[in-house]
Parts: sequence; structure tokens; C-alpha cells
Amino acid sequence: MKTLEDLKRLREKLQDETRLRHSSGTQIIIGMGTCGIAAGAREVMTAILDEIAKRNLQDVEVRQTGCIGMCEKEVLVDVVRPGEPRITYGKVKPAVVSKIIAEHVVNGRIVEELVVGKITRDR
Ligand code: FES
Repeated sequence: MKTLEDLKRLREKLQDETRLRHSSGTQIIIGMGTCGIAAGAREVMTAILDEIAKRNLQDVEVRQTGCIGMCEKEVLVDVVRPGEPRITYGKVKPAVVSKIIAEHVVNGRIVEELVVGKITRDR
């Protein structure tokens, strides 16, 4: 039987491992819930993968997630550069993907006019 202390330690260990995994490269996370897909998330995902391939970017991981809970702001795309705040872009269209990749993913400059959220720490 585990004590609360054991569970707390386990949780901390897992958090550390998650952090390590996250710190190795940039992550791009696309909201692929029902409304994300309805708003064009698949097209945005394709545009992101194309752009990454075109620029031959290494160490960039593209993932999808389910409902983020901000239907009206779909398509939502998060960019997390190692050690930097998690930035959520909203109403992303394929046409702005190359800008987000060039400015933020490659050069570390946040595209402020498209930002709908910022998380400074892992929850
Ligand atoms: S599917 Fe988008 S907010 Fe739920």
C-alpha cells in the first residue's frame, strides 16, 4: 500500500521526466477536437508538416490533442520551445502557418497578433 508521501514522490518523478522529454526540442500541438477539425485543423496540420519538411527542421515534434475548450478560437495551435512559455495561437489558417514557423519556431519571435493564450509553467 502506498502512502501519500510515496505518491507525491512518484508524481514529482514523473513530472521531472516529462520536463526532460519536453526540453529536448520544440513542440507544436494542434487541437483536433470536433470543432478544431470543423474549423480546418487537418489543413493546418498538413500545412505545418509541409513547412517543417520544406525547411528540413529537425527536433520539432508535431502532436495533436483533443478539445482545448475554446471552440470559437479554433484552429488552435500551441508552440512550446524548450524552456519558454507555452504559446497558444488561435484562428490559425494554413496561410499563416509559414509565418508562425519562420518567426516563432525557427527564430523564437512570438507572432503576437495571433496569440490567444500563454502558459508560463507546466501545470
Ligand atoms: S471540441 Fe473545441 S472546444 Fe470542444
